Amino acid sequence: MNAALTIPPLPAAAATPVGAEVRRGLTARPRRLSPWLFYDQRGSELFEAITELPEYYLTRTEREIFAQHADEILAAAAGAGLAILELGAGSAAKTGLLLEAAVRRHDEVAYYPIDISASVLEKASSRIAAQLPQVAVRPIVSDYTRSLRELPASGLRRLVLYIGSSIGNFDPQAAAALLRSLRRRLAPGDWLLLGVDHVKDRTTLLRAYNDAAGVTAEFNRNVLARINAELGANFRPRLFRHRALWNDRECRMEMHLESLVAQEIRIPALDLAVRFRRGESVHTENSYKFTPDAVSALLTRGGFAPRRHWTDARGWFGVYLSEAV
Ligand SMILES: C[S@@+](CC[C@H](N)C(=O)[O-])C[C@H]1O[C@@H](n2cnc3c(N)ncnc32)[C@H](O)[C@@H]1O
Repeated sequence: MNAALTIPPLPAAAATPVGAEVRRGLTARPRRLSPWLFYDQRGSELFEAITELPEYYLTRTEREIFAQHADEILAAAAGAGLAILELGAGSAAKTGLLLEAAVRRHDEVAYYPIDISASVLEKASSRIAAQLPQVAVRPIVSDYTRSLRELPASGLRRLVLYIGSSIGNFDPQAAAALLRSLRRRLAPGDWLLLGVDHVKDRTTLLRAYNDAAGVTAEFNRNVLARINAELGANFRPRLFRHRALWNDRECRMEMHLESLVAQEIRIPALDLAVRFRRGESVHTENSYKFTPDAVSALLTRGGFAPRRHWTDARGWFGVYLSEAV
């Protein structure tokens, strides 16, 4: 008899990306959960609410840069037509400014928003298709860390948008590997526009991730509600405290969920029980902050040649255009 047959099969949920990630993260020490898990429908809505908060300067600062420089940015990507691909497009609220500049300059513009969250992508795509009928919108639901195979090769020159400080979720090695994998799927002469958050005073950073209204705390705890909904777990999110801290050595903001009591969490779909000590935390997000030199070094490691960059008047955020070489 084959011994493997005696092993009980894992519940099907364990094989899904969410199940596999939750198992990996909650059985690791220290415990962690990947930030992409934030973005179920509720998480995407909460993120949209964060972008409107007075403390969260990132989105409005990047939008300010696009409002001022979209035409110059698009002028760099020469040619008759342009395929614009966006990694982690979300609501694509700022992207409209770039698409408008693209249609002013190019005869043919195709837009491929890529996001792991189908609900947010659908909403963004219909809005853009209605507002900019000249743009062919082709949404792609996909995890860009696993598969960049879907990157379309339409014959047009490509401009990849990776904005909103999303690269900051990855440690320097993983960020360079992600850029290299993107570069392999591009042709020389294609472009990457990277939006990154700059290093700044600690008070501004801490406030941005710990707003007075508690929306970021709710966003952070929503990952536990998602695990309850999708894997039948019994987290009581209120028994976890949102913590945002600045890690000076790593040059990053971190978000954690700290257990307020000793507790055992059951996750039936994974056949898993996880014990938390009081004060033990789950690391849910990193957001690396950059200097312009660090961005150039990262782009070069990723196989791109930095060409130009734009910042806001305070120098808080930077948008970097580089060429696949
Ligand atoms: C912080 S939001 C940024 C949204 C938008 N780019 C902006 O600048 O406001 C991150 C977005 O990336 C998506 N996302 C996160 N990880 C992803 C992944 N691995 N693959 C695809 N999309 C991802 C999320 O669903 C979310 O919509």
